[in-house]
Amino acid sequence: MKILVTGGTGFIGSHTVVELVKAGFEPVLMDNFDNSQASVLNGLETILGFRPSFYEADCNDAAAFAEIFQKESNIGGVIHFAAHKAVGESVQLPMKYYRNNIGSLLSLLETAKAAGISNLVFSSSCTVYGEPSQLPVDESFPILPAQSPYGNTKQICEEILRDAVASGMDFRVLSLRYFNPIGAHPSAEIGELPIGVPGNLVPFVVQTAAGWRTQLSVFGDDYNTADGTCIRDYIHVVDIAKAHVKAIQYLNSKAEKSLYDWVNLGTGKGSSVLEVVNAFEKVSGQKLNFKIAERRSGDVEKIYASTEKAERVLGWKTELSLEDALADAWRWQQKLGPKLV
Ligand code: UD1
Repeated sequence: MKILVTGGTGFIGSHTVVELVKAGFEPVLMDNFDNSQASVLNGLETILGFRPSFYEADCNDAAAFAEIFQKESNIGGVIHFAAHKAVGESVQLPMKYYRNNIGSLLSLLETAKAAGISNLVFSSSCTVYGEPSQLPVDESFPILPAQSPYGNTKQICEEILRDAVASGMDFRVLSLRYFNPIGAHPSAEIGELPIGVPGNLVPFVVQTAAGWRTQLSVFGDDYNTADGTCIRDYIHVVDIAKAHVKAIQYLNSKAEKSLYDWVNLGTGKGSSVLEVVNAFEKVSGQKLNFKIAERRSGDVEKIYASTEKAERVLGWKTELSLEDALADAWRWQQKLGPKLV
C-alpha cells in the first residue's frame, strides 16, 4: 500500500520512510527542502537499496497535492510531517508559522477528501500540555495555552482535524504527540540536519563535541529537579518512526469511517539536561565543553509521557535507550565531518 509522507526528507519523515518500507508499505515522499536536503534521498537509497518515489513540492500548494494523488493512484494513507518547527523563530515570525503549518494541513485535507483518502497521521507535540500539573502526562491531560506560535499551530491543527472528523468527513485521524525525538539511523546514512545553530539540545551537544560549536550552554540549573536542570522524555527517532507504521496499521484496521484520536509518543522516562550530557560523554568517550547559563524563556521544568495509551492502542513501546540514541547521533555527526563554525 502506498503512503504519502509529507516532509519525507525531514528528520522524522526520513526515518519513517525506512520503517514503512521494512513493514511492506510503499512510501511516496513530498518535500520542498525548506528544512532538509536532497542528499537525504541518497541516504535513503543506500539504506533501502532503491530510491523512493519523491515529489519536490510545497504542502501549501493544493494543486501539488491533487497532482500527486492523481499520479500515484491508490494512496492508502498520509503521514503529515511537513511543518516549520523552530520555537524561537515562531515567536519572531508568527505569520510564517500560522500560514505554513495551518495552510498546509488545510490543503492536504481538502485535496485528500476529493481523492478519497481516509487515513491520516498527524505530527503533534507534547508542547500542547504546557507545564503539566502531574507526571507522567497522559492523554486525558488538558491542553494548556500555547507558549509559542509554533505550539499554537499544533493545537490549532489538532482542533482542525477534530472538527473535520466531527463534521462527518470520512477520515480516520491519529495525532501523535511527540516528546523529544533524538538520535539518527544506526547506519548513519540519515540523521538530523539542523540548518544554522541548532536550537535543540542533542544536535548542539554533538556539534560541540565535533568542534562545530565551542561550548554548550545548559539553560538553567535552578529548577526544582534533582540536579536543577530541566527534565524531558528523549526518544529515539527510530522508535518514533516505528510508531508511525503502527499508527497507519491501526487506522487501516478500523471498520468505522471516521475516527479522531491522539496518542503520546515517549519513553515514559525523564532525563535531565545534565544526565544527557553525562550519558553522551559516556557513550562517546568525549569530554563536553559546557557551562551553566541563564534559563531559556518558555522552557517547561519537567515533562515525560505516560506510555500506557500508545501500548494499548498501537501495541507499541520504545525499544531503544537514551544511550542508543546518543551513540547514533554521535555516529551521524562524525560522518558529517569537519565544518567551519
Ligand atoms: C520543544 C518542545 C517540542 C518541540 C521542540 C521543537 C516542549 C516541552 N517541547 O522541545 O514540543 O517539538 O521544542 O524544537 O515545549 N537545552 C539546553 N541547551 C541548549 C538547548 C537546549 O540546555 O543549547 C535544554 C532546554 O532548556 C531543555 C532541554 O535542553 O531543557 C531540551 O531542549 P530542546 O531540545 O530545545 O527541546 P524542548 O524545548 O524540550
